[in-house]
Amino acid sequence: MKLPLVELHLHIEGTLEPELLFELAARNAVTLPWASLAELRAQYDFADLQSFLNLYYRALDVLRERIDFTDLTRAYLARARTAGVRHAELFFDPQAHTSRGVPLVTALAGVRDALDRSVDEWSISTKLIVTFLRDRPPAEALQILREILAGGVPIDGIGLDSAEVGYPPELFTEVFALARENGLRLVAHAGEEGPPDYVWQALDLLGVERVDHGIRSLEDEVLLDRLVRDRIPLTVCPFSNVRLRVIDTLADHPIVRMLDRGLLACINSDDPAYFGGYIDDNLAAVDAEFGLGPDRLALLARNGIEASFLTNGEKAALTAEVDAWRAAQPAPATAIRSS
Ligand code: ADE
Ligand code: ZN
Repeated sequence: MKLPLVELHLHIEGTLEPELLFELAARNAVTLPWASLAELRAQYDFADLQSFLNLYYRALDVLRERIDFTDLTRAYLARARTAGVRHAELFFDPQAHTSRGVPLVTALAGVRDALDRSVDEWSISTKLIVTFLRDRPPAEALQILREILAGGVPIDGIGLDSAEVGYPPELFTEVFALARENGLRLVAHAGEEGPPDYVWQALDLLGVERVDHGIRSLEDEVLLDRLVRDRIPLTVCPFSNVRLRVIDTLADHPIVRMLDRGLLACINSDDPAYFGGYIDDNLAAVDAEFGLGPDRLALLARNGIEASFLTNGEKAALTAEVDAWRAAQPAPATAIRSS
């Protein structure tokens, strides 16, 4: 029996594995700056968020046609299935594609095609969250949101990502207000590299229901009180934090402190093709590092379910499966004293 998982912080573009990247480059006759898979992988040594984003946006050049976006999404869903993911809320960056000439509907509908078949094909329910790039003009985000609202491709929510420092959430108040008026769910990256004040802004000015990363909230006790009191979820991504040097090593990761502080934290994969693994790999590494044990693993899984945008009935059903998984785990070995 596998621990049922919910993935809430996953950039679909960040699941572009080198093999698929080369396949798409050949299919679309795109000339790459890397001669081999090894040469590409050698670039995966990041100094910070910006150095990662430079490669992430560059690699996306191979995604040209609607079917490319479908293939990318299907490849993720297949991998998520092996991880035990039962529900995934995917981020998708429209401006990473429109800014290089790919029409909005080509990219968005390509992802949607895969998601529409995901329950039948992979037994994974999904939601689609359009994330706006905070280092591009808010007016552009507003325009794209209006196009999406007017078009025929449904989405479930909006978020905010890309380079954080210098691009505070307050710049996007109007975008989030429009999304809220139209019944969309609201999330934002905040407190990844940026200060706790950005988390406050995301909560109080954008009205987000969930904060992506948010680990710098640990620097502000008053903010922690607020997050705990209001059960605001934090979608934490341990491999990402290490690879983007937000923290030094996995052993320094605050995930256990966050749980002990009463935060509604869950574990996610962010950009798994670039950071060394998917949600199951993140959980396994954190378990190996901190010896989480079945109780904390189940707590992390339940937190993910509670943090999701599933209905209460769907949450209850998945939580019951986590409880069944917990009950099926072997009891800890007790020392037998010889007489
Ligand atoms: N876009 C893709 N991954 C991201 C991350 N970790 N932070 C901000 N924007 C991103
Ligand atoms: Zn992210």
